[in-house]
Amino acid sequence: MSRRRFEGKAALITGAASGIGLATTERLAREGARILACDINAELLDKEVARLAEQGLAVFAHSLNVTHAGDCSSAVEAAVARFGRLDFLGNIAGTLLFRHFTEIADAEWSRVFDINVNGPFYLSRAALPHLEKTKGNIVNISSAAGVIGVPYNVAYSASKGAVLMMTKALAVEYGTRGVRVNVVCPGHVHTPMTAGVRPPEGADLALFGRLSPIVLPGASPAEIAASIAYLASDEARFVTGSTFVIDGGQTAI
Ligand SMILES: NC(=O)c1ccc[n+]([C@@H]2O[C@H](COP(=O)([O-])OP(=O)(O)OC[C@H]3O[C@@H](n4cnc5c(N)ncnc54)[C@H](O)[C@@H]3O)[C@@H](O)[C@H]2O)c1
Repeated sequence: MSRRRFEGKAALITGAASGIGLATTERLAREGARILACDINAELLDKEVARLAEQGLAVFAHSLNVTHAGDCSSAVEAAVARFGRLDFLGNIAGTLLFRHFTEIADAEWSRVFDINVNGPFYLSRAALPHLEKTKGNIVNISSAAGVIGVPYNVAYSASKGAVLMMTKALAVEYGTRGVRVNVVCPGHVHTPMTAGVRPPEGADLALFGRLSPIVLPGASPAEIAASIAYLASDEARFVTGSTFVIDGGQTAI
């Protein structure tokens, strides 16, 4: 990797133990960032962070549950205490739920919103005073399911739609204060989250025929990380409130 766009910068990334969050952590670290890598899965996080640290990357593990506001503010404070600054927040942790709509339990609906929406809210609220100082930025992760309706995925789609609008409203509120906020909407990405996921028993499978990507069956986590790295970098100085769809044309039809 020849580019070092994040030399001297400090980042906090959630969902860093796996998939897109791990790929983003690796990408930014290879380009010079110091990173507090955060996840609820402490065991996997420690393993992945040790692997990256062995390669000389400045990545440090911090376990948190994004559904706890206190964990989120502690993580931000830990990043600032360790690095002396915070330039980037990547809200990447998330969860998926496939259910027939009338079979979604209250606790399942709440859990999806707690992780996918409340987590980014708690972290952004804690990070923004520090991001204002560095003129830093936030990248949130929505989904193609936040742009179009995905059947049997209503809780997830609704939560990802909320993330998209949280991004836009925050981008407007903070634009004149020097903080950029963008959202990435991946289509199908090959990660542990999607491996083995099936629609629920009895689902109308014909509906899924309209949801396929055009160019490839799916993306790698590294391909999504490359776009997040662009948005996080100074190359994207004029980009805020932007919805960056990376879905192989799935939502273009
Ligand atoms: N994989 C896809 O096809 C796809 C498509 C669109 C959007 N996304 C979004 O991308 C993000 C990353 O997904 P992925 O595919 O890399 O999944 P993944 O399962 O590989 O990684 C998700 C990570 O989030 C962590 N996490 C879950 N709940 C948490 C909590 N309460 N606190 C802290 N960490 C928590 C998990 O431990 C895991 O390491 C998610 O927000 C997901 O909704 C994924």
